[in-house]
Amino acid sequence: MSKKISLIGAGQIGGTLAHLIGLKELVDEVVMFDVASGIAKGKALDIAQSSSVDGFNIKLSGTDNYEDIKNSDVIIITAGVPRKPGMTRDDLLGINLKIIKEVADGIKANSPKSFIICITNPLDIIVMALQKYSGLEPNKIVGMAGILDTSRFRYFLSQELKVPVKEIESLVLGGHGDTMVPMPNYTKINGKPLSEMIENKKLELIIERTRKGGAEIIKLLEKGSAFYAPAASGIEMAESYIKNLKKMLPCAAYLNGEYGVKNLYAGVPVIIGKDGVEKIIEIDLSSQEKEQFNLSIKAVKDLYEVAKNIDKNL
Ligand code: APR
Repeated sequence: MSKKISLIGAGQIGGTLAHLIGLKELVDEVVMFDVASGIAKGKALDIAQSSSVDGFNIKLSGTDNYEDIKNSDVIIITAGVPRKPGMTRDDLLGINLKIIKEVADGIKANSPKSFIICITNPLDIIVMALQKYSGLEPNKIVGMAGILDTSRFRYFLSQELKVPVKEIESLVLGGHGDTMVPMPNYTKINGKPLSEMIENKKLELIIERTRKGGAEIIKLLEKGSAFYAPAASGIEMAESYIKNLKKMLPCAAYLNGEYGVKNLYAGVPVIIGKDGVEKIIEIDLSSQEKEQFNLSIKAVKDLYEVAKNIDKNL
């Protein structure tokens, strides 16, 4: 059966997502939706023309009409405003909450059975708001953050240790913000524990750089935020769902008692397969990791309170 992905937001990440989906021939059809319909249509046409060179065969279109997202298998949301230098992800809250309400309504009315991946920041709160506004099943709505944060941690480690990233397994948990929790105890280099390969001081610096990984790129770009690695991370989640790969991936998932957290989205390892988030994996945390994870959860909860003050319906 033919498969379809709709991208809500055709900006930097949306465009990169569409291009990657094409190059991988992940599905048969991609619909790019954006309030700026010219951007969605122009990018869809540009990427479609690149298929003549790269030899991929998928249907691409751009639109500002929510009816065109009907019957999507996956929807990836990047609609919103990205951070500018000096802005935190939280500064984006008010404006992106309004946008996500519109997006939730559009999806609910037109494609309520899709697997929905949210990338818009501040991630944990926006994905939570998306679930509340749409009322759709929490196991079909996830946030992309952990794979991106882990990719940054693995990359910095690979540079320091001079080993290919492929040989590094790792995990970053918690909220997608400065309190995120890189997990050295769950990091292995070619199967060997990280602690045997790196001095503590160097590791601390890498953890700090990972936590500020998004801001480092914003500062360099000056306009806009990271988009290649966020798009690649979103694709890994979509692929695991579409191909039923049942990969274990760190994602912002709805917690209902797991890790001692209730009614909140936060980054934990989950299994993604044909039913969406099929399982939340509860790994053992050391007392220090638990403390850091709880601090990160508190930051997410505090921001959720701010969101509730902006919109009482949350
Ligand atoms: N509906 C649909 N699209 C919208 C809406 C809306 N209500 N409001 C804005 N958009 C579109 C913009 O027109 C723009 O094309 O969302 C797109 C966002 O693209 P960029 O500004 O290029 O942002 P991008 O870098 O792709 O990041 C998007 O992901 O990582 C997060 O912090 C980032 O929240 C930001 C989001």
